[in-house]
Amino acid sequence: MKLTIAIDGPAGAGKSTIAKILAKNFNIMYINTGSMYRAITLKALEQNIPSGEIEELCRLTDSLDMYFQNDRLILNGEDINDKLSLPEISSKVSHYASIPEIRVRLVKLQREMASKFDVVMDGRDIGTVVLKDAAFKFFLTASPEERAQRRFDELKRKGLDVNYEEILKEIIRRDFLDSNREVDPLRKAEDAIEIDTTGLNINEVVNKMSSYINKTLENIFMGDINE
Ligand code: CDP
Repeated sequence: MKLTIAIDGPAGAGKSTIAKILAKNFNIMYINTGSMYRAITLKALEQNIPSGEIEELCRLTDSLDMYFQNDRLILNGEDINDKLSLPEISSKVSHYASIPEIRVRLVKLQREMASKFDVVMDGRDIGTVVLKDAAFKFFLTASPEERAQRRFDELKRKGLDVNYEEILKEIIRRDFLDSNREVDPLRKAEDAIEIDTTGLNINEVVNKMSSYINKTLENIFMGDINE
């Protein structure tokens, strides 16, 4: 059986931290699809391509070579991960991510990656679109205030000069754009398990998810033995 774990949810719900730990614990690959949309945004901004220039953006996307190595996105041979969490990228990414032609290209790439390896993949449309048949689907949420506080702490740790109120506003705006776009909006897959992580620490969330996965795998294994 292929081990495929899909994690969706709004900004700052803890998806990437949790996905990294699950990847390590289950010895599978972590694919952070948000970083792929962020990478397109970074390159588009560097080359002054606005989100209305669809043809140019398609050409740009097709020219980029993306793969993951040790949880990090390598873009045309370069590790650009440190630039991806910059506030300029966060404030523009939802506009570029709402373009259907870009989504088609990245979804194809994400499916190819998942077809080669056992993966945990996080994003907005993983359980609903990219990996509809994933063995495990989770939808992580938390209050906007708690998500903004987590993002604030994360950016502070990276040495950035950030403001809590601005981050909260930005997170609420991005959730609105991601949930209301026409193509592949952020929503919980019907068969996903929802976990409200408000007030829970990372270990508590990881334990909840891991014990659900382990129990299900055990049941499948016991079913196989009893047949
Ligand atoms: O880390 P954070 O939750 O802030 O966001 P992210 O996972 O890095 O995703 C950045 C943005 O990319 C999201 O706000 C979405 O606009 C877009 N995205 C998407 O549309 N589909 C995905 N599968 C992943 C990200």
